[in-house]
Amino acid sequence: MTSISLTRFLIEEQRSRRQITPDLRLLIEVVARACKHISLAIGRGALGGVLGDAGAINVQGEAQKKLDVLSNEILLEANEWGGHLAALASEEMDEPHLIPHRYPKGNYLLVFDPLDGSSNIDVNISVGTIFSVLRCPEGVTEPVAEHFLQPGTEQVAAGYTVYGPSTLLVLTTGSGVHQFTLDREIGSFVLTRRDLRIPEDTSEFAINMSNQRHWEPPMQRYIQELLEGKAGPRGRDFNMRWVASMVADVHRIMTRGGVFFYPLDAKTRDKGGKLRLLYEANPMAFLVEQAGGAATDGRQRLLERRPLALHQRVPVFLGSRNEIERVTRMHLEHDAART
Ligand code: AHG
Ligand code: MN
Ligand code: MN
Repeated sequence: MTSISLTRFLIEEQRSRRQITPDLRLLIEVVARACKHISLAIGRGALGGVLGDAGAINVQGEAQKKLDVLSNEILLEANEWGGHLAALASEEMDEPHLIPHRYPKGNYLLVFDPLDGSSNIDVNISVGTIFSVLRCPEGVTEPVAEHFLQPGTEQVAAGYTVYGPSTLLVLTTGSGVHQFTLDREIGSFVLTRRDLRIPEDTSEFAINMSNQRHWEPPMQRYIQELLEGKAGPRGRDFNMRWVASMVADVHRIMTRGGVFFYPLDAKTRDKGGKLRLLYEANPMAFLVEQAGGAATDGRQRLLERRPLALHQRVPVFLGSRNEIERVTRMHLEHDAART
């Protein structure tokens, strides 16, 4: 069997579908190359002196790990000079990063969570990078935060990498979801699964159960029904998995189905939720929908939300369609009964 590299895959997509422009192809290749560097740094672990805290707090109010900072720098440096971007925005930076004047500018905006699940690094559990590509609004040469505030339906590409037992890149440009595995000897991403599909039904869920007492009533009820298993209203047993790296939890769902929830809870209510709309929720929602799954904030399709701020947080419900529809319906019925 001929192995298909990411480069070949993108060139063939560009020829057959035309939705991938040369600049978008360059952008995806540059992000993939940066992710190889991140993968290398993570792989060296303690030997590379990259574990532990950076000693700073980011705009999210979270303590940064050395690898959060390093991954952010790797992605910035890789993407600055290619001429394909107008600006970048990252979970780890207060404001958008403009392309320095010495380089040409392109028409795309790149948004990323450089390292997702970074609390897991020091215990050697899978982490990842999440990214999303938007178009820079026409006529804008110096993009500011408001130019990034586009609904998720406007994304032209999204993807994530998982730095796990193997390094994977999972990508969509709007025509299905495809998986590439890093061949460490050759140094390139190779297509290993085409057209990932999430089954409509599942018996596996992912949620941080320690927040149970802080959830809203419909969430409490939905999970309670799952926990009651065969003897309860659902009439079957459910299994629970929670890696606490969104990339790893979403990748399990991409592989064998399941649902992932980070619902609203009393602790994060004031902030709107835990996960970030632009860096985490929207790219994952795009990928999940492209794989036949569903993604909501518990009430509304995530991709249709109009972002109000760069670092906005939202509740996230995604995965196997029938479960996501069910839990979303329960939230809407709860709201309707209260009015
Ligand atoms: P990040 O490391 O980018 O801040 O994201 C962490 C996120 C996500 O990966 C994960 O699903 C969730 O936070 C874990 O939350 P808990 O701490 O509640 O387990
Ligand atoms: Mn994250
Ligand atoms: Mn992060």
